[in-house]
Amino acid sequence: MDSVTVIKHPLVQHKLTIMRKKDTSTAGFRRLLREISTLLCYEVTRDLELTMAKIETPLEDIEAPVLEGKKLVFASILRAGNGLLEGMLDLVPSARVAHIGVYRDHETLEAIEYYFKAPEDIGNRLVIVVDPMLATGNSSIASVEKLKERGAKNLRFLCLLAAPEGIRNFQEAHPDVPIFTASIDSHLNDKGYIVPGLGDAGDRMYGTK
Ligand code: URA
Repeated sequence: MDSVTVIKHPLVQHKLTIMRKKDTSTAGFRRLLREISTLLCYEVTRDLELTMAKIETPLEDIEAPVLEGKKLVFASILRAGNGLLEGMLDLVPSARVAHIGVYRDHETLEAIEYYFKAPEDIGNRLVIVVDPMLATGNSSIASVEKLKERGAKNLRFLCLLAAPEGIRNFQEAHPDVPIFTASIDSHLNDKGYIVPGLGDAGDRMYGTK
């Protein structure tokens, strides 16, 4: 699992444990997801290139580091991706945002896109695709396919939890896209849930169950 980074920061691990608890409230879960996503964002952007820019401080002119290149794109896989998106935008408010909705047709297994909106010049930007759960990998794989079809070339995938099966499938489909996660859990159950996991991330975020 070469291109998988597990983010082991103590605050990330502590918050994740509280999110896993079945008694954590919807409000608590949502707040923790927002907090944890800022920490994950910090790690996934750790190696971004800097360039020097001339600025004036109140005392003198200096050259100081600023991010190089075009603004980042955060691509949220609907609907749970929006939970990670919020905290990431807290940290990088100038980022552009893409939203992707895909589902798999159960008979053909084809990825059906029901929503896609992204900045036009996506090919010149780093695209960080976010979804809290990398389970089978089906929706993540399809979403990255759609982004590549629209010209994205430089992508990273960020999730909170990953199953080994999902990592394998994703890497097979997109070996060029590094994965960042806070945990690699044990396995998927026969309903496609990550075990031990945290349940359905979307339902827990939005109180829909
Ligand atoms: N999606 C979720 O929200 N939870 C899982 O365990 C798997 C997929």
